[in-house]
Amino acid sequence: MGKRKRTKTARKSHSDSVRPGIVGPMRDVPAVIARPDYALTGQPADRASRAIRTESEIDRMRTAGAVAADALVELGRHVSPGITTDELDRIGHEAMIGAGAYPSTLNYRGYPKSLCTSVNEVICHGIPDSRALVEGDMINIDVTAFIGGVHGDTSATFLVGEVDPTSVRVAKAARDSMHKGIEAVGPGAHVYDIGRAIENHAASEGFSVVREFIGHGIGEQFHTSLQIPHYFDPRNDTVLRPGMTFTIEPMINVGSNRLEMWDDDWTVVTKDGLRSAQFEHTILITEDGTEMLTLPTSGEPAEDLVFTDTIATGT
Ligand code: MF3
Ligand code: CO
Ligand code: CO
Repeated sequence: MGKRKRTKTARKSHSDSVRPGIVGPMRDVPAVIARPDYALTGQPADRASRAIRTESEIDRMRTAGAVAADALVELGRHVSPGITTDELDRIGHEAMIGAGAYPSTLNYRGYPKSLCTSVNEVICHGIPDSRALVEGDMINIDVTAFIGGVHGDTSATFLVGEVDPTSVRVAKAARDSMHKGIEAVGPGAHVYDIGRAIENHAASEGFSVVREFIGHGIGEQFHTSLQIPHYFDPRNDTVLRPGMTFTIEPMINVGSNRLEMWDDDWTVVTKDGLRSAQFEHTILITEDGTEMLTLPTSGEPAEDLVFTDTIATGT
């Protein structure tokens, strides 16, 4: 056997990359379920959004958040080798409509499915399709529910069977950096405090932070004009005040933070083919800190279910 030259690039071999599968039709939502403004046309109305939510909106956001979080917890229980991402989409869709909610991603700017499934090197906005999960995969499932006129948005990265130690580490770094971002703020803090805490933690683990996709204000609109970067940028100096609601959803990469987009114009992947992990909660700024609006009914968030007995590696 001839000697093969080793290359120094960290790019993964092409054979085990995630490839596009077959995307099924949009799922139906019963007519009795109230829809967001974009459900028919795909285009959200361009309305100015208030920065501070009313008590009623906040209360309804707790409900929307719980519906999304309950669906996410149930989805996590179904993650295992052999299940297709389209089947996960069906399970999430039925959980949401069963709770009387509209799956917010469905036809949002033309997005064709009821949630996002981002496997391995897919950073975000992966479209559920015919691809079956295999042992060693990791998958972010991102669920957003619309009910009571407001949205709740949450995601978690789940491990499929036994996963390599670096993947476990990057998933934990994504989870922990999200929590550090949440803990960094409260009334009077600045938006940049969130990104600083997240970036510091990711860097301490030797990982990079995605810059092109960021957290966002949320309420009656899926995405408001409020921007929440997951890296430190002193220009994001908005002062946080009680009643503000937004997501914190860092995407943390094993390798470089350079990205590419698939031809479907949705699926965002790492340029170097190395893996990316993400967790997301919808957060309220309260009088004395923060409240997570995307807690499941059980009270135990989906991220607490990820690193228990489902994997054999890592600590
Ligand atoms: N849930 C995603 C977020 O965290 C947004 C998905 S929008 C879609 O903001 F169109 F890609 F579904
Ligand atoms: Co979001
Ligand atoms: Co989301």
